[in-house]
Amino acid sequence: MAPGATDEAAHEQGGTPHYPLIKPAELDWTFAGPFGHYDLGQLQRGLKVYREVCSACHSMNLVSFRNLEGLGYSDEQVRSFAAEFQVEDGPNASGEMFMRPGIPSDRFPSPFPNPEAAAAANNGAHPPDFSLLAKARFATQGFPKFVFDIFTQYAEGGPDYIHALLTGYGQEPPAHITIQPGTHYNPYFMNGPALAMAQPIMDDQVEYTDGTPQTVDQYSRDVAAFMMWAAEPHLPERKATGMVVMVFLIGFAIMVGIVKRRVWADTPH
Ligand code: HEC
Repeated sequence: MAPGATDEAAHEQGGTPHYPLIKPAELDWTFAGPFGHYDLGQLQRGLKVYREVCSACHSMNLVSFRNLEGLGYSDEQVRSFAAEFQVEDGPNASGEMFMRPGIPSDRFPSPFPNPEAAAAANNGAHPPDFSLLAKARFATQGFPKFVFDIFTQYAEGGPDYIHALLTGYGQEPPAHITIQPGTHYNPYFMNGPALAMAQPIMDDQVEYTDGTPQTVDQYSRDVAAFMMWAAEPHLPERKATGMVVMVFLIGFAIMVGIVKRRVWADTPH
């Protein structure tokens, strides 16, 4: 039975379907688990995908250009990258806002002047900001999965979801589902059967210079990893610290136990 089939059956019988209709697959991410790390090459490719495709609609207004030094770029590279963006500044002496090229302390701007304009240009739905999106989206897997997640340190639900969404277009909607005009069927979307974003990226759309395959699957992995980095750049350090703290606490608990036995050894019961 295909995943999600039960939901569809429930829907046909008049029940409420659960979204997403199909649960995202869990992928292998380099930053998964207690010893994970970000793959800088992958993050740089993800930035390229974001820059060339997604930034036409999605802002990232909590991330500054200078944060890109964390991806291994020099100050010089960050400066010329920032200057490619037009950023609103002002007001000037005559009280007007004006546009100027970006500098490293600017944030990734929105291509639209305000959320209403963004929605008007996108079938009524405004493209969400990317800064925290990888942490804000997480298709819950339910009990008992979330119990095991505590031990596997599973925190990649966001990137799994983004990858599934980007690779989930182009399927035939089931007969009983009506797709509203201006929306696109995607069984991985978590708020309904279809969303206002059309499939944003196709094979060979972005050029990779390091020989990585130029497929929708690969682009989706890279941009999802990049979005996770944007949302939580210090994820590996946080997990490593957690590991050290756990090891310390376990060691400390054993020591306290031994000391307690020593101290009370001569006291009769
Ligand atoms: C032409 C504009 C446009 C482009 C380009 C675009 N998007 Fe979107 N995106 C949208 C809109 C509009 C929405 C809101 C859809 C809705 O809520 O119905 C959206 C929503 C999303 C969501 C959130 C889905 C959710 O669960 O709410 C993700 C993730 C996303 N886009 C990823 C991407 C990625 C990654 C790229 C680049 C590969 C990209 N988008 C390129 C317009 C765009």
